[in-house]
Amino acid sequence: MKKILITGALGQIGTELTASLCQKYGAENVIISDIRDEVPENLSGGIYEQLDILNKEKMEDLLLKHKIDSVFHMAALLSATGEKNPQMCWDVNMNGTINLLDLGVKHKLNKIFVPSSIAVWGNGIPLDDTPQESVLRPTTMYGVTKVAAEAVCNYYQQKFGLDIRGLRYPGIISSETLPGGGTTDYAVEIFYEAIKRSKYSCFLDADATLPMMYMSDCVRGTIELMEADLDNLNYHADYNIAAVSFSPSELAEEIKKYIPEFEITYSPDYRQKIAASWPRSINDEAARNDWAWSHEFGIEEMTKDMIEKLSARLTTKV
Ligand code: NAD
Ligand code: SER
Repeated sequence: MKKILITGALGQIGTELTASLCQKYGAENVIISDIRDEVPENLSGGIYEQLDILNKEKMEDLLLKHKIDSVFHMAALLSATGEKNPQMCWDVNMNGTINLLDLGVKHKLNKIFVPSSIAVWGNGIPLDDTPQESVLRPTTMYGVTKVAAEAVCNYYQQKFGLDIRGLRYPGIISSETLPGGGTTDYAVEIFYEAIKRSKYSCFLDADATLPMMYMSDCVRGTIELMEADLDNLNYHADYNIAAVSFSPSELAEEIKKYIPEFEITYSPDYRQKIAASWPRSINDEAARNDWAWSHEFGIEEMTKDMIEKLSARLTTKV
């Protein structure tokens, strides 16, 4: 990867992926793009270009202007936002992705990363240790787009030889950028509320166990998959990847070790039904065998790091 374009780079994952890619590949080689007009303050030295992924012409201009050879395609609408506007979710997640794949073939891009999600699964699957090879029955439009995108990416890989790679990310937890409208967002919000108000009203049930991952593992895993030898990969756009699994009540107990007065209450909304259709834990043996994936952060390490980082930042701002 010599010249990298990131779409949706101002989102939760894009922000921290950008920082790591700038550090690793040189900021001058990283083009940061998002639909948002305002040029962000912290670009990690990279170059910002406004890009709506539905604007194929502009996408092509940017690929040519910056001689891009690799793309991390992070622009998407997430599960909860997608349920509020399913048509737009389909449009952005599918048509934006097809635009990129078409241009990838036309301009012979070297590698493309297209993230998938635990939302590919749905009712009737084994909820524990959900296997790599399993029936995909998404219950949200977001999940529908992720299943379809996996299939389309694998099709472009087979038909045109385009090197496309992707991970079925669990819920991602991070301290730098707030999540963008997903069902797992509670696991980030809870830290802000615990530090600011010592209480949190959770929109999922106390025992809604879901697969989760800390951002540093997510970013490292993403880059490691992109750097893996293609010959070792038995899957392409649809690798299971896992780190930890926990419920809101288990996370609350962990937070109480640092903030003993913290109180959590439960007021489940429409997102609980989505969460109940997703796995509790995932089998990621294929990733561990094929490209040596290994997570570093468990619930304890993650909670410690989140509390330290957010306490420092939120206290400084007050
Ligand atoms: P996010 O919502 O935080 O960021 C998405 C970014 O895309 C935003 O900055 C938004 O402005 C941008 N965007 C939206 N529409 C656009 C358009 N038409 N053109 C260009 N940019 C547009 O999402 P994220 O959490 O950073 O997720 C990145 C990817 O990872 C997505 O594909 C998402 O489905 C996937 N994923 C995320 C999680 C998670 O927990 N964060 C879990 C599973 C999968
Ligand atoms: N964190 C994401 C969501 O909840 C999972 O894809 O939508």
